[in-house]
Amino acid sequence: MKNAGPKTQAFLEISNKYEPACMNWQAPVVWDHAQGAEIWDVDGRHYIDWTSGVLVANVGHAHPHLAEAISRQAQRLLNTFDFPTPERLHLARKVIETTPPHLDKVFFVTTGGEAVDAAMRMAKRATGKYEILAFWGGFHGRSFGPMSLTGLPKIKKNFGPLLPGTILAPYPYCYRCPFDKAHPDCCLFCLDFMDKVVNVESAGSLAGLIVEPYQGTSGFVFPPKGYLKKLEAWARQRQILFVLDEVQSSFGRTGKMWALEHEGLEPDILVLGKGIGSGMPISAVVARGEILSALERGEMSSTTGGNPLSCAASLAVFEIIEKEKLVEKAASNGAFLKEKLLELKDKHKMIGDVRGMGLVYGIEYVKDRTSKEPAPDLVREIVLKCVENGLMVGKLGIHGNVMRVAPPLVITPELVDESVAILGRVLSKI
Ligand SMILES: Cc1ncc(COP(=O)(O)O)c(C=O)c1O
Repeated sequence: MKNAGPKTQAFLEISNKYEPACMNWQAPVVWDHAQGAEIWDVDGRHYIDWTSGVLVANVGHAHPHLAEAISRQAQRLLNTFDFPTPERLHLARKVIETTPPHLDKVFFVTTGGEAVDAAMRMAKRATGKYEILAFWGGFHGRSFGPMSLTGLPKIKKNFGPLLPGTILAPYPYCYRCPFDKAHPDCCLFCLDFMDKVVNVESAGSLAGLIVEPYQGTSGFVFPPKGYLKKLEAWARQRQILFVLDEVQSSFGRTGKMWALEHEGLEPDILVLGKGIGSGMPISAVVARGEILSALERGEMSSTTGGNPLSCAASLAVFEIIEKEKLVEKAASNGAFLKEKLLELKDKHKMIGDVRGMGLVYGIEYVKDRTSKEPAPDLVREIVLKCVENGLMVGKLGIHGNVMRVAPPLVITPELVDESVAILGRVLSKI
């Protein structure tokens, strides 16, 4: 990458000196400010944003209505702990009115991982059972509860022992099917296999399963259509709770307000995060009242959970999404983006797979299309070149070889065009 600017270099020195290196690798950029789907660094360099932070800034950076709501609330009231506030109650009503009708109670916390942890505790209390089924490649957060449910060895390695009672089964990562089968001929063999895994591994105390509508951290891995509905039916038949982790797939990201709408899913517990505050820390567990009523008063709460500042921000997020028709825009601009990314795939053999919907796509890079050998070093080089040329993008994936394309939902067709052109030029020179 071209030399970083002088202010960037100075800040990176501070980072090296005072911060640990445990955070994710990113291109060496120090963000200064951002607007909509554009970012400027501390040296004034400009970038089009394909990150949304980490799928957080759904309504765009520094949205004036969101900034106004935060500023107004900050001058009124910041924290009440568990005392209700108008902001929290208005938000609770909004969430319940917007999510599927069978979900009628919501509990607010602060991070996605905290919400997943709360959901697990609710599932255990409501069923009186303790085992949870989760998936290979799944990611649900970094604290011990969610980490125990994670199917990514790199994340949990060296932290054991983890929570007992977790059963892991394969997720349909069709581009790299662990059974070397191909959809639809496979007839979703992974579901049959999962059933067998549970039969063998469960001690007879399965409380529920937790699944992502698409696996984010694993490399934006989307299951084939119909898989999630069948998984839900399996959970019903087993009489266990179906917990859907929509921490990153919600608030319009997939071209629907909730990813569950694509297949008409009816989760017992729905977990929300990231886009719900579009930058303000807030997350939520939405569930059927009878599940939440298993908890007694005082059994669950959190210092900053449902704080009025984050709730005011989230209410503004709902208003912006509705007023600016961001869900519809994510669907239409996303279709345009997908078309352009598929054109790049046709042209560049190093792209093995492009997958996604709405405004979330994974571009998986390989050394060879036949062997599908992952190309993580190449992706790093491409990411650095993109950033150098004004496209802010990151990478992830089980093999570290997937470029994440997840711009704020306010991205315009012109910026889509411009950003894909930057990637195209970079790929042509590799
Ligand atoms: C699906 C999913 N669940 C949970 C989490 C954890 O959220 P947080 O980092 O806010 O704890 C993430 C974060 O990336 C996620 O993608």
